[in-house]
Amino acid sequence: MSLIQPHGGTLVNRFDSNYDLIGIEKSVELDAFSLSDLELIAIGAFSPLTGFMTQPDYDSVVKQMRLANGLIWSIPITLPVTSETADQLSIGERVKLTHNGTVYGVLELADIYRPDKKVEAENVYRTTELAHPGVKKLFERPEVYLGGPITMIKRPEIKKFAEFHLDPSETRQEFAKRGWKTVVGFQTRNPVHRAHEYIQKSALEIVDGLFLNPLVGETKADDIPADVRMESYQVLLRKYYPQDRVFLAVFPAAMRYAGPREAIFHAMVRKNFGCTHFIVGRDHAGVGNYYGTYDAQLIFRNFTAEELGITPLFFEHSFYCKACGNMASTKTCPHGKEDRVILSGTKVREMLSNGVTPPPEFSRPEVVEVLIRGMRQTSPASSV
Ligand code: ADX
Repeated sequence: MSLIQPHGGTLVNRFDSNYDLIGIEKSVELDAFSLSDLELIAIGAFSPLTGFMTQPDYDSVVKQMRLANGLIWSIPITLPVTSETADQLSIGERVKLTHNGTVYGVLELADIYRPDKKVEAENVYRTTELAHPGVKKLFERPEVYLGGPITMIKRPEIKKFAEFHLDPSETRQEFAKRGWKTVVGFQTRNPVHRAHEYIQKSALEIVDGLFLNPLVGETKADDIPADVRMESYQVLLRKYYPQDRVFLAVFPAAMRYAGPREAIFHAMVRKNFGCTHFIVGRDHAGVGNYYGTYDAQLIFRNFTAEELGITPLFFEHSFYCKACGNMASTKTCPHGKEDRVILSGTKVREMLSNGVTPPPEFSRPEVVEVLIRGMRQTSPASSV
């Protein structure tokens, strides 16, 4: 029994471990980014997508934040290959999709096209600067896109925290089992600090359950590694959250750092996982100074509540205020900067890697302990 309709009405399932590969000669090698997209399409996290985007969908998404059929979709899901690879392929044929030589899926090749990446960058990222990690990645990847429906035949191996890898059909079942009628989704690529906890718990005052859904796919090198974060989430939840009101599972997607556009994408995906509500705070999915603090909230105004299907919950910049003596936000605290405990992400990472403890008003001591230990032991490349 589902709580909320998936985006487009049907939860996509493109997984078939018995798929017959006989007669499929050609193959295309996927990078880690495309492999993650392949899996997210196959398990229905990207419903209604059934494959990598063909040009009509791609153009429409880039220009209008909609698929060609009009449904909201804000981030291109593409399969980039080199011209040399593309030249070997013909529309209409089936192609094996491999990663490090292992076959993970099959693409029914429906389109081969050359995108204008400058237009993609301007529209999706609002900048063409290569200093932006999402734009850099976009331009680093090859120049021709392949489109068409996929079938996944093998799941990537899960190295750690397997119990937290759940498909949307499974999270939906879990929410139903817990009797949650309303569930708020929380995206994060960071440890959960006091400000995150505050907005999660504020949301939890009005909904039945919190779905803590950290992104554990590719992030930029200076973000805190996913395995360290996973340990910190568990420690935090155990000590500070009501166990029957919170559920933790990973979101194995790559981070795009596309700010406002990514907020819409994150919301649609969490709807597929069964969330009825989604938290968007300050500078959601942002990086550097590319986006205004609340741009990721304002972008939701482009769409009606009906077509979004999931309710965004907006929160202003939150912090501990010494004068208030509690957590607060710019919406609820009348005091000035000098009373507010605010640390930038960069500052916190610097403190942690030097073994310096951020204050308890900023982060729970149990979380800090895990992070400092983790930052000492783990190389930036380690992931979940
Ligand atoms: S994100 O790239 O995954 O969005 P982050 O993990 O920092 O980054 O944020 C997770 C969510 O918490 C986002 O919705 C973000 O807007 C929100 N958020 C982060 N810090 C604050 C804060 N101090 N006040 C309000 N919202 C915040």
